[in-house]
Amino acid sequence: MAAAYMITNHENPDWKRTLNLPAKDTRPQTEDVTATKGNEFEDYFLKRELLMGIFEAGFERPSPIQEESIPIALAGRDILARAKNGTGKTAAFTIPVLEKTNITKNEIQALLLVPTRELALQTSQVCKNLGKHMGVQVMVTTGGTTLKDDIMRLGQTVHILVGTPGRVLDLAGKGVADLSKCTTLVMDEADKLLSPEFQPIIEQLISFLKNERQILLYSATFPMIVKSFTDRYLTKPYEINLMEDALTLRGITQFYAYVEERQKVHCLNTLFSKLQINQSIIFCNSTSRVELLAKKITELGYSCFYIHAKMLQAHRNRVFHDFRNGKTRHLVCSDLLTRGIDIQAVNVVINFDFPKNAETYLHRIGRSGRFGHLGLAINLITYDDRFNLYKIEQELGTEIAPIPPIIDKSLYVAP
Ligand SMILES: Nc1ncnc2c1ncn2[C@@H]1O[C@H](COP(=O)(O)OP(=O)(O)OP(=O)(O)O)[C@@H](O)[C@H]1O
Ligand SMILES: [Mg+2]
Repeated sequence: MAAAYMITNHENPDWKRTLNLPAKDTRPQTEDVTATKGNEFEDYFLKRELLMGIFEAGFERPSPIQEESIPIALAGRDILARAKNGTGKTAAFTIPVLEKTNITKNEIQALLLVPTRELALQTSQVCKNLGKHMGVQVMVTTGGTTLKDDIMRLGQTVHILVGTPGRVLDLAGKGVADLSKCTTLVMDEADKLLSPEFQPIIEQLISFLKNERQILLYSATFPMIVKSFTDRYLTKPYEINLMEDALTLRGITQFYAYVEERQKVHCLNTLFSKLQINQSIIFCNSTSRVELLAKKITELGYSCFYIHAKMLQAHRNRVFHDFRNGKTRHLVCSDLLTRGIDIQAVNVVINFDFPKNAETYLHRIGRSGRFGHLGLAINLITYDDRFNLYKIEQELGTEIAPIPPIIDKSLYVAP
């Protein structure tokens, strides 16, 4: 048998041996990310420079949503994809977008829309990171920054534009961002982008794109409102639903503690002293409550930051950046960080205020247990929340158990 035939892409050619790989993540992972068909990134015939970026990001093989989405997106079809939180949707669209980008052309070829500025920054960072050996130019644009800087930047090459809808529409409307050659539109957190606050902006934006365009929609939640949009704008979309069996993540254990409003801070203090928190995100239902709670937590002697949409963008950016880099253990926030935010060190999410609906609940608790890891979600429930707790449990088909006196560390702390 000729040995030469045995040399496949899967063996270690020179370029693979020279990769600058990060330390291996040895924490256990659940089937939410491990139950794959066994594809390898090399199976998709991606450019070598892109493969290098993927491996250097520490990705060894595609997750289930990536296996489903990458080949179909590469084939040019519209996609409507639903997959659980933290299972790798970002790379599921970023990889095909990068692969299809022709860096020799000075044109915006893909537009990636997301609902919040922080998520735009994070997504553009993923794009730059995976594409770092390709020479691709990725630009991020959001509200809360000077339009003039964006206009200057658009004078130079941009291949992929990542942003929040309002600002992108501003730039397209002024004729500064030329979307006429843009053939791919990705809407991440698509159901949020199709809510009444964004939908009219999205529809106007689509009118600036090339007629033969590909539209890719991703989220962990797709209420019915999405349907009328897909009927109008997508062509025979390929539907992916990896959430048929369950909606919540296998790695996250959910508890509730029944409290009176005035006991909440005391309860939180007890949680802080008893739990082994690596990093936590604590959600409140209003910006004023975010600030008040952060103050109280600081008075208790714990270091914490807070973030909400009414802060200055420069301040928001610093808090987001510093929390991501582990400068503080706790972050108190509003629903600004509910969707898409990916901070692997977060192992505990606390709903200081219980959310109003099941989608918000699902996305909030999905800030822990990223990429199939373990996490804990703790809900402080008042008398007024009791029906809502029951309703959300029913809607998500999940169990939120009363909090036991001692929470087993093996549920949320990696060995
Ligand atoms: N193939 C892979 N191998 C290892 N890690 C991966 C892989 N794909 C993605 N990840 C990591 O998994 C984490 C979660 O990915 P991502 O943020 O894309 O999830 P998501 O599905 O968009 O979640 P959400 O619904 O909360 O937005 C990220 O830290 C990312 O780097
Ligand atoms: Mg995401």
